[in-house]
Amino acid sequence: MPESPGAEAPRDCALCDRLVEYRALIRAAHPGWYNGAVPSFGDPAARLLIVGLAPGVSGANRTGRPFTGDWAGDLLYPTLAKFGFSKGIFDARPDDGLELTGAMITNAVRCVPPRNKPVGAEVTRCRVFLAARIAALPRLIHIVTLGKIAHDSTVRALGERVAAHPFGHNASSRIGGYTITASYHCSRYNTNTRRLTPAMFEAVFAGVREGLGAAR
Ligand code: URA
Repeated sequence: MPESPGAEAPRDCALCDRLVEYRALIRAAHPGWYNGAVPSFGDPAARLLIVGLAPGVSGANRTGRPFTGDWAGDLLYPTLAKFGFSKGIFDARPDDGLELTGAMITNAVRCVPPRNKPVGAEVTRCRVFLAARIAALPRLIHIVTLGKIAHDSTVRALGERVAAHPFGHNASSRIGGYTITASYHCSRYNTNTRRLTPAMFEAVFAGVREGLGAAR
């Protein structure tokens, strides 16, 4: 299926000077890595969209697939499998044959930021792709946001005020026809500090699965 115009940033997106410079540095050190704006991954008929923060430098920025090759994906993909959102075996490689079923994964910021931390202006500039991504999914009804930055950007992409839809782990709100559920990001830091446990993360997707079942 041809990709909807605007839903994906061009691989060599030049909207953010700082991210372009950082990409060039990494490309020089690791010419074999993907090193570009990482496209969303998953099912164009998705009813569930997961919004991450940004590619990890040696994860998605290396492999070219969101959450692939770093700790966060090692928690996210098995959780999606457990709740029936994938088929095939996740092996942390873009050619592992894994398919998402009824789900898609994207990032609020498509290019790798220094220290995993996009600045506000980068999040704002990249929102045009997030808004287009959401609009291009005709069956979408549920969005899970990973971390406050992804959550706030999603709320803004849908034209709402963050104050009206504050971030809270496993808290849901309705915007237009969508249910938005926030989760702590499944980063190594959050799981090491037990801010997010695998059980807390699974509880989010159990709720999503239940809601989607009811909406079928
Ligand atoms: N990898 C991604 O693609 N996004 C994140 O938010 C973290 C890791």
